[in-house]
Amino acid sequence: MRKIEKLYEGKAKILYSTEEPGKLIQYFKDDATAFNARKKGTIKEKGILNNKISSRLFELLENEGIKTHFIERVSDRDMLVKRVEIIPIEVVIRNVAAGSLSQRMGIDEGANLKDTILEFYYKSDRLGDPMINEYHIKAFSLATEREIEFIKVMALKINRFLLRYFDNKGIRLIDFKLEFGRYDGEVLLADEITPDGCRLWDKESGERMDKDRFRRDMGKIEEAYLEVYERIMGVQ
Ligand code: TMP
Repeated sequence: MRKIEKLYEGKAKILYSTEEPGKLIQYFKDDATAFNARKKGTIKEKGILNNKISSRLFELLENEGIKTHFIERVSDRDMLVKRVEIIPIEVVIRNVAAGSLSQRMGIDEGANLKDTILEFYYKSDRLGDPMINEYHIKAFSLATEREIEFIKVMALKINRFLLRYFDNKGIRLIDFKLEFGRYDGEVLLADEITPDGCRLWDKESGERMDKDRFRRDMGKIEEAYLEVYERIMGVQ
């Protein structure tokens, strides 16, 4: 499948049209941003690793009966996906306190939560992705009630699968962000699942294996992404 036209350039990916109207190529860049793009940099080979990590996770989720936009990985940095209409909501699932939750609630990072937390953010770079709830979603028609119910069930199902999956790889899934899109009357999991949008901590050492290493200038960023990739692929 050939790239025809650049349709959209985001912070970490570029979307291209292809010969087929219902299919896009999602190209993974090495660019990394944080704090609503106020911090910018590159993480060498991140695009290649993220494409491979996300492709593998989407495949596994499809096997679990979760519908995604993933069709196939076509090269190191290119993923063929269904052309969805992105629902402008970021869904964050949290298993352990960290990041903005710790700040907002004044609790230590790593503190256990009695239950899983599901949060919604309005996907808007201009506004810095403000947190919203289901009333905002309804009042601003961001998604229908049925879509939101479906998204919640899917996000929790994805969490249950990924928690167990990463645990088997010696990784604690602290939190992560998902995006969904509309396609042919259905809602599909879209975007990516990579260390850019997840917090992944080594089970034994507690080392961070995700974009917090970039956000917080912790060093060994490339190494962390490679380690996640190798554990996922089962490379020792
Ligand atoms: P937070 O603690 O900063 O709210 O982030 C929660 C999770 O969501 C974390 O795994 C990183 C991910 N995330 C994104 O993927 N994109 C974003 O814009 C933000 C703010 C968080």
